[in-house]
Amino acid sequence: MPHDVLSQMPRPTRFGSNDGQPPTRRDGELKVTGRAVYAADNHPDRMLYAVIAASRIARGRVVALDVAAAKAHPGVVEVLTPDNRPALAHDPNEKIPPFGFRIEVLQDDTVRYPGQPIALVVAETLEAATEGAALLDPRYETLPARTSRDDGERFAPQAVGVGSPPRTSYGDVEAGLAEAARVVEADYVTPAQYHNAMEPHAVVAEWDGDRLTLDMPNQALALSAASYAAYFGVPPGNVTIRSPFLGGGFGSKAILNGPQVLAIMAARMLDRPVKLVLTRAQMYGPVGHRGQTWQSLRLGMDGDGRLTALHHRSLSATSTFDDFLEPAANASLPLYASPAILAEHEGLRLDTGTPGPMRAPGEASGSAALEVAIDEAAEACGMDPLAFRLLNYAETEPGNGKPFSSKALRACYEDGARRFGWADRPLEPRRMRDETGFLVGWGMGTAVFPCPHFPAEARATLRADGTALVETAGADMGQGAWTALAQIAAESLGLDLDQVEFHSGLSTLPNGGVAGGSAHTASAGSAIDGAGRNAIARLAEIATADPASPLFGAGNIGVEARGGRLVRRDDESRSERYADILARAGQSAVVGFAKAERDPSTASGYAMYSHGAVFAEVKIDPSLGQMRVTRLVGAFAAGRIINPRLARSQYLGGMIWGVSFALHEEAVTDARTGRIMNADLAEYRVPVNADVPAVDAILVPEEDPVVNVLGVKGVGEIGITGTAGAIANAVWHATGVRPRRFPIRIEDLIGHLR
Ligand code: MOS
Repeated sequence: MPHDVLSQMPRPTRFGSNDGQPPTRRDGELKVTGRAVYAADNHPDRMLYAVIAASRIARGRVVALDVAAAKAHPGVVEVLTPDNRPALAHDPNEKIPPFGFRIEVLQDDTVRYPGQPIALVVAETLEAATEGAALLDPRYETLPARTSRDDGERFAPQAVGVGSPPRTSYGDVEAGLAEAARVVEADYVTPAQYHNAMEPHAVVAEWDGDRLTLDMPNQALALSAASYAAYFGVPPGNVTIRSPFLGGGFGSKAILNGPQVLAIMAARMLDRPVKLVLTRAQMYGPVGHRGQTWQSLRLGMDGDGRLTALHHRSLSATSTFDDFLEPAANASLPLYASPAILAEHEGLRLDTGTPGPMRAPGEASGSAALEVAIDEAAEACGMDPLAFRLLNYAETEPGNGKPFSSKALRACYEDGARRFGWADRPLEPRRMRDETGFLVGWGMGTAVFPCPHFPAEARATLRADGTALVETAGADMGQGAWTALAQIAAESLGLDLDQVEFHSGLSTLPNGGVAGGSAHTASAGSAIDGAGRNAIARLAEIATADPASPLFGAGNIGVEARGGRLVRRDDESRSERYADILARAGQSAVVGFAKAERDPSTASGYAMYSHGAVFAEVKIDPSLGQMRVTRLVGAFAAGRIINPRLARSQYLGGMIWGVSFALHEEAVTDARTGRIMNADLAEYRVPVNADVPAVDAILVPEEDPVVNVLGVKGVGEIGITGTAGAIANAVWHATGVRPRRFPIRIEDLIGHLR
């Protein structure tokens, strides 16, 4: 093997742990010194390079490829096309549950979206493979691309997102609208967006007989290993995925994709290691995106401003060959008290790659529309938007009356509003200007994200020297799992952080679940906590049964773990070091193991969400319509926060993504060719530093005795939710113009500003 992945694991560090500050990222030093090895940094001996040839049409058929020219190019070893590609043990058209997608692996000559792989060229060098791919000179039979709401085929989905119901209904929405004193109806549009992780999708695949080793960035190691095993007809234990570091994932590295499977195929076919790295442009197609939505909201309010009905409908785009739909309308289910709520989805088939989960799937797009609609409803009632939200505050989950496991949203509203200065906001739009004459507006939105739990396992080994090794196959895509999970381990073991060696990012370790759904710390952390406690319990059994121990006879319940010692609860002067207990027992270690799953009665009995409130200030040049977010304040309650430094960082990143959603991001499709016109980071706009305002994140205290043993909810995705709506509402407050499509464009405002 080219490198020992265990040597890549961040070593125990003291940074921040003893100065009263939350620890900094354990992997920080490896990354800033360039020693962190990412998937594409691996170069096993005899490695070949693979390059995807991608379709330049959106729909049709490949009728000719000049394979001979490509193969004749010096250094080219093989060209995979539908004619010669090896068979898979599992039909790539059949999804592998629970998160499987239909993957595109040259199963036929049909082109279903632009950027679809149509061949794979493998060569001795990257240059030769790239040249070979260019020589293929594909000829197409081209059909007109279906790119818009008007020319795609509509369908009623079986499910949205990852297995959510496409339609949820409480009460009678039509009756609620009929009896309302005021009704607000509006349509909103959100664009296709692409994950654009800094690190492109990459894989280095190496076969040894029927054993497969993959260096690849991966958010779901156990599930992926099982899926690769199924595709290649080997036992799941024969697949090892090494993913110590990811340069961002955002959902796109939780799902298997065709190009990676093709590279693995080539490695097996040629019996040599193969590396494939997608180009930036190739990340706009076969590896998922956030699908377009067209959302319609209808809200009814009584004379006091109380909701009588909330109807949220989303038309969500997907591909012609798979079903993933943005569950946007479901964003309206958990947040506002209304006697009648209807959330429903329709699908639209376009000639595009299949969308997939992208940071806050459903909630990001859905809350952008919902929070603007709520602002419009407050306006219709002549109410302050915060007062309107408080009046319609849901004390229990709307529709089913389930109690929230915890919900400190009121405190989020209060703390955020106070920090922002919301009380000084004029009710009417266009009332504020800055010293240069720019229009100033203030808007807000509510943030919400559910708290799923993925089954996870962990192992904790207390060693003879009193230190510990804790292992779980999780993934750190930059969010800080290396650090937060090690902190949980240290706490459960009664050790300092620098006494805990933490291994993760390797599929042969105990299954750490999925780094997704904002659930990694909660899921893997619960397992780690359990494993640590289990190891301590085993150690306590040894000590309390040993007449030579000062803890003899205390019983398991009678000792606690702290500072590397077991201490009698009833007499703190009687304690013993872990190392001494093990030494006297002649044991080199004790091992604890735990599996953490959500208790079904908790799952069915409670509504579990993180909440937040986001406040935004924008300034707009009245001559040019140029918009800038100048201030953002978010206040979030997400249960127990393991590491405030890293949680705050997640909130800031999420809110900046909200700026991006509101003002920047959009993949633009050329209606003539069906191709994405801005498939690069020069023209696919994301915020640069100059676009990012003063961002402030408040960590609102919240205790949750229900959600899991740790009381941890999740912080990874909630920052995006609420933020785009807050910015759009601030734009309205500045200008009196109501934005209803994202990103908000200058041309939406210009002509209405003077
Ligand atoms: Mo996420 S979209 O669950 O990585």
